[in-house]
Amino acid sequence: MASQRVAVVTGANKGIGFGIMKELCAKFDGIVYLTARDEGRGKAAQAELNKLGFSPKFHPLDIDNQASIDKFAEYIKNTYGGLDVLVNNAAIAYKNAATEPFGEQAVNTVRINYFATLALCHALFPLLRPHARVSHVSSCVGFLGKVNGDEPQAAALREKFSSSSLTEEECGNLMNQFVKAAQDGNWKELGWGSSTYAMSKVGLSALTPIQQRAFDADTRADLVVNSCHPGYVDTDMTSHKGPLTIEEGAVAPSYLALLPPNISEPKGAYIWKDTTPVDWVNGPLPGNGY
Ligand SMILES: NC(=O)c1ccc[n+]([C@@H]2O[C@H](COP(=O)([O-])OP(=O)(O)OC[C@H]3O[C@@H](n4cnc5c(N)ncnc54)[C@H](OP(=O)(O)O)[C@@H]3O)[C@@H](O)[C@H]2O)c1
Repeated sequence: MASQRVAVVTGANKGIGFGIMKELCAKFDGIVYLTARDEGRGKAAQAELNKLGFSPKFHPLDIDNQASIDKFAEYIKNTYGGLDVLVNNAAIAYKNAATEPFGEQAVNTVRINYFATLALCHALFPLLRPHARVSHVSSCVGFLGKVNGDEPQAAALREKFSSSSLTEEECGNLMNQFVKAAQDGNWKELGWGSSTYAMSKVGLSALTPIQQRAFDADTRADLVVNSCHPGYVDTDMTSHKGPLTIEEGAVAPSYLALLPPNISEPKGAYIWKDTTPVDWVNGPLPGNGY
């Protein structure tokens, strides 16, 4: 068991995560774990993949629950001794029509999309084996330019996020500052954008080069992390308004998960739905921006 290669996809029971499962089951040379916060939904998705001739494994994983993260990490460690691919796909987004106060939306969105993803990284990164690949599913709204509140405060925030010496702690502090501003009602004056989802994804995109710098300094060879925009996809999150299929949305996240050994790029990068690298700081965003 310990010599088998292992891939893990979060939030894999539906939507783009399910599309990524199909792609990895077809192309990854090892075991693929479908993880989901709800066991019933996860096992139903596993059964769907079985019908397609794939044999993924299932394990419960709620990234918003530290005990669930710890249990999963322990299980992977004890069963396989390491991990080769992690796709951080799980996320939430409030609908435009949501009536919860902006501050509450910020608390929950940043907690799950940024801090819970980071908590899973903290638990699983020690298990990564040489040549491991980490794929963060960010978004077109995770582009730095989406920090677009009042100037010059927005420019000052963008400068902090894009600093090549930004630390994980500082990035977390910025996320917490956004949440506080959202609760205080002065986020726009302080430079922040007006979407809690976008700000959470900016944080995830900013975390990516920070994590790559740590990987570059790691004794394990060739650890690579990137983030991507999967495209505007027909899923529950978009109320099925996105034009792309989940298979099309799975292209970029799966490409990052399956990057071959010893590549020189992309590393710590932000890539578009068609896998082209995008300058996260200066853009431009390809096509119509989504
Ligand atoms: N769809 C798009 O157009 C689009 C565009 C840009 C980026 N994205 C990103 O792509 C990724 C997938 O989005 P999607 O459109 O496929 O969304 P979706 O259909 O809403 O699926 C989200 C998945 O994440 C899971 N999830 C949510 N909270 C979780 C938690 N605490 N622990 C574990 N799993 C959790 C959900 O589980 P449940 O089924 O239990 O709720 C579900 O499996 C997200 O990161 C999203 O931000 C999507």
